[in-house]
Amino acid sequence: MFVSIILLLICVVFIIIQLKSRRPKNFPPGPTVLPILGNLLELSLENPLNDFERLRKTYGNVYSIFLGPKPAVVINGMKTIKEALVTKGVDFAGRPQDLLVNDSTQRKGVILADYGPSWKEQRRFALMTLRNFGMGKDSMEERIHEEIKYTMDTLEKSIGQSISPRIMFHNAASNIICQVLFGIRYEYDDEVIKVIVQCFTENAKIANGPWAMLYDSFPMIRSLPLPFRKAFKNVETCQKLAISWMNEHKQTRVPGEPRDFVDCYLDRMDKAGDDQSSFSEAQLTMYILDLHFAGTDTTSNTLLTGFLYLMNYPHIQERCQQEIDEVLDGKDQASAEDRNSMPYMQAVIHEVQRVANTVPLSVFHCTTKDTELMGYSIPKGTLIIPNLSSVLNEEGQWKFPNEFNPENFLNDQGEFVKPEAFMPFSAGPRMCLGEGLARMELFLIMVTLLRKFKFLWPEDAGEPDFTPVYGVTLTPKPYRMKLQLRETN
Ligand code: HEM
Ligand SMILES: *[C@@H]1O[C@H](CO)[C@@H](O)[C@H](O)[C@H]1NC(C)=O
Ligand SMILES: *[C@@H]1O[C@H](CO)[C@@H](O)[C@H](O)[C@H]1NC(C)=O
Repeated sequence: MFVSIILLLICVVFIIIQLKSRRPKNFPPGPTVLPILGNLLELSLENPLNDFERLRKTYGNVYSIFLGPKPAVVINGMKTIKEALVTKGVDFAGRPQDLLVNDSTQRKGVILADYGPSWKEQRRFALMTLRNFGMGKDSMEERIHEEIKYTMDTLEKSIGQSISPRIMFHNAASNIICQVLFGIRYEYDDEVIKVIVQCFTENAKIANGPWAMLYDSFPMIRSLPLPFRKAFKNVETCQKLAISWMNEHKQTRVPGEPRDFVDCYLDRMDKAGDDQSSFSEAQLTMYILDLHFAGTDTTSNTLLTGFLYLMNYPHIQERCQQEIDEVLDGKDQASAEDRNSMPYMQAVIHEVQRVANTVPLSVFHCTTKDTELMGYSIPKGTLIIPNLSSVLNEEGQWKFPNEFNPENFLNDQGEFVKPEAFMPFSAGPRMCLGEGLARMELFLIMVTLLRKFKFLWPEDAGEPDFTPVYGVTLTPKPYRMKLQLRETN
């Protein structure tokens, strides 16, 4: 009996030593790796934030963990993230390809497409299309203003009451993307939007939850009828909708006179001709879903955070309103150019994005070749987790890293300045493709709403809780806001 226990212990120690050496040579340090499970037992599957905090304290800015049998490198701090995503941008511009998402997206679209000619071509097309978007009534700006009118209507009906703004902001962000993509908006209680929103909310939860980790770690369970199957069904449902939008456009479009993104894409497909081209209908439908997904939760959660803080920092809200009144005096609406004359508003929006920390771990990257980071060797195909939060509140990069304070973006003369560590959109070749659109939305929506209304934290709401709910995108805890019509303006 005694002998067998000793033997068993020796075996266990031997296995642990064996597996420890599985960390490649000169790989970033990290906790001891267990067989099959890797470091999964060290992470709380529901909310691993505290565990990550501990690992970073123990192992430093670059450390590795094993998600099941698969190694991942977490990178923290501006210097490290810049070296990886910018200086060695191409080396770190891949996306992991053997995950749940890989299988559910069929590797189409842009967000999760791996680094390569197809991704490059698709990305360049979207950047150019969004930048060149029509002038006048068709411009991006007008499309946003059109949608803001609906938000204003909702708010006007609630003057003097308190409302939960979550669905309102979510719909606004979703509809703006829909307008840009296919020139349609949906009423706030439309079934189509409800279905899409529900599919995406569910999938974000699945992608971030324990079942995805298990799916990624254990190939043998992938075909079992477990909850991640639902993720595939959700993608299918959305894809059907995207296909119907595309078909509708194919019937009504006038080639060469694009009304929206889908028309631009179909025009581009006409031109492509050669079979080397990555432009295809299957690609387009996934692209529509990608852009809608990427642009909805991110923008609406940032807005939610913004109004949560503005209600609880009334002096900051008032200073914004003062600036808005001055600059927009006599104009009927704000334009994107007004940003240049509103340094304080700009500072507030950037500060909101900094504290909102909307996409805390970015979208996971993957190395495209054997490379090095801060002296460590990282083989091709390693999963890379850029910790954007670690930069947005990094000591030494900000005047006030741990409080909500627009002074973080203002110099002594009160001019707007953007510190290098401002990277809520990430950095490098994979940087958010919708940055321009997102910044225009945040500006036009916040300015238009603040100009007309005063936002108040309801007296009966108790102390505000600024701690966000953990997820792929962070979102504030549900709250209610009270509003009054402003006298001025
Ligand atoms: C406040 C709003 C937003 C935030 C904070 C945000 C943040 C991010 C972040 C952190 C990434 C990952 C970059 C990386 O992998 O290093 C990303 C990627 C992306 N975002 Fe955004 N985003 C926002 C709004 C939007 C909007 C409105 C769109 C739609 C046009 C959009 C489209 C995309 C796309 C397509 C990607 C993938 C790019 C690629 O893989 O090449 N985003 N975003
Ligand atoms: C990212 O950085 C934040 C802030 O420094 C920290 O609390 C968190 O634990 C880090 N996450 C990871 C995955 O290292
Ligand atoms: C993920 O994508 C890659 C690249 O196309 C593919 O070769 C691989 O089979 C996919 N992974 C899984 C698990 O299906």
